[in-house]
Formats: sequence, structure tokens, C-alpha cells
Amino acid sequence: MERSEWEIRWSDFLSVGIPEIDDEHRAFVGRVNDLNRAIVELEDKATVERIMALMLIEATSHFRNEARLLKARQYPQAADHARKHEELIDQFTRLTAKFREGELSFVWAMNGLRVKQLLVDHLLQEDMKFKEYFAEQTKELNRLLG
Ligand SMILES: [Fe+2]
Ligand SMILES: [Fe+2]
Repeated sequence: MERSEWEIRWSDFLSVGIPEIDDEHRAFVGRVNDLNRAIVELEDKATVERIMALMLIEATSHFRNEARLLKARQYPQAADHARKHEELIDQFTRLTAKFREGELSFVWAMNGLRVKQLLVDHLLQEDMKFKEYFAEQTKELNRLLG
């Protein structure tokens, strides 16, 4: 299938090295592409809103899983990370309300794109921090074992 320039591709760079989390992140990237595609192809507001609703359900469950895992693995910033997830869900809810109020397609489309951008930024900035942390830990462990 041909790919468009706005399409996000999954790559090893995005992997955090925890298969369970990677699977959910991969599904999220797919959902982001669904949303982008719907907006680029000028789908109606109801279609975009349905994708946003699915994204919220999936993000809520992913955040819960991720927070549980970070805590279980004793990631030092686990509590702070969980707080960031909660803030994101709040922002998501606020932007969705704005999305619903928007009458001009330009306005609601912008709010739809803002929602997914918040989540993409979290993945690229915050989730990459625990990726790095666990990678360092593994390296250190191997050094001590070697
Ligand atoms: Fe995540
Ligand atoms: Fe996260």
C-alpha cells in the first residue's frame, strides 16, 4: 500500500524495549494514522469524533498498563509519569469538548489534530525517558555480569 507523507511509520526507534508496551504504542500509531487520514480526506465530523473516542479509550487503558508496569519495574519517575498521563487525559477531554463546539471544519479539525499531537509528544518525550533508563540498567547489568 502506498504511504502518504503525513503517515507515521513504526520504527525500532520508537520501541521502548518492552514488548507489551510496544504493541500498544504500535496500535496507537495506527490510530494516529487513522485520524490524520480522516482529516486529510475531509471525512465528516462524526467520523473524526469516532476515531477520537476510540483513541481516548485506548489511551486510557494503555496509560493504566504502562503506569502499572513502570511501578512494578521500580522506575524512579513512575509516580511523576502517571501524573503526566492523568494530565493528558484531562487535556484530551477539554480538547474534545472544544472539538464538539467547533462549527467550522477548520476549527474542529485543528482541535482533533491537537489531541493526537499531545499524545505523540508524550510518546516521543516522556516514554523515551523510561526507554533510556531501562536500556542503561540493562547495560549496567551486563557490565557487572561480564
Ligand atoms: Fe506510552
Ligand atoms: Fe507514558
